[in-house]
Amino acid sequence: MKDNLSLAAEKISNSSFTLAFTGAGISVESGIPPFRGETGLWNKYDPDILEINYFYNHGEESWGVIRDIFYDFFGLASPNPGHYALAKMEELGYLHAIVTQNIDNLHQMAGSKNIAEFHGNSSRLICPECHTVYPVTAVDLSILPPRCHNDQQILKPDFVFFGEGIPAEAWDRSFDYADRCQVCLVIGSTGEVVPASYVPQKASQKGAFIIEINPEESQFTRSITNLHLRGKAGEILPKLLEKLVEN
Ligand code: APR
Repeated sequence: MKDNLSLAAEKISNSSFTLAFTGAGISVESGIPPFRGETGLWNKYDPDILEINYFYNHGEESWGVIRDIFYDFFGLASPNPGHYALAKMEELGYLHAIVTQNIDNLHQMAGSKNIAEFHGNSSRLICPECHTVYPVTAVDLSILPPRCHNDQQILKPDFVFFGEGIPAEAWDRSFDYADRCQVCLVIGSTGEVVPASYVPQKASQKGAFIIEINPEESQFTRSITNLHLRGKAGEILPKLLEKLVEN
């Protein structure tokens, strides 16, 4: 009887298109707390600060909390062995795309290339009026709220706020990958947020083998997961990469 890690490696080795769907859990070992669960951010902060109309009506107040969470705190995080293992799997041809719910830019920093940012990315700020995009590193966040150089509008982090739609390009790519993949890794997500959680569900409906990596059970575990590698992404993914390389 093959152990679960060997079975997962075999499935990935035999797959011509493998997708990784990631959530906040893959960044926990980088020091970024998840949104839900005992240490979840929504236990400390009111998710309303990320509601789009609240932001447009209370830009100055929202920006204070947004800077605390996403720039002063998250901004110091760096990729962990889980992010690096996925980047290496892509480089070696074992992984073909990532759909991430995360806005922390850690997959990009780890060297992954083919990434659909389902909820956008905090490393960019955008003007809601003229749509000029600014790298956050080029903006002085000691003066809040940051304003567009063209029209003085309050800039918005280029990630999806509650009440906002999913960027069309990310949506199209994500569901195209879900249609095409033969294996879908589901890493560090409760599966509680829609429409993001439809991506692995679509993959499963189209016949993909679902490998879940999570220390806990999620909404996916008893519905679409075919193989649950129970544990931390930063520990399991490097071992999975090792299995793939040794095969
Ligand atoms: N490795 C893997 N998974 C982990 C780890 C770890 N080290 N630590 C925690 N987890 C799991 C938890 O068990 C949980 O299932 O990560 C998951 C985190 O769940 P959420 O915080 O709900 O994260 P996510 O599913 O990505 O949330 C989706 O909600 O608020 C919105 O836009 C936000 O993208 C986010 C979305």
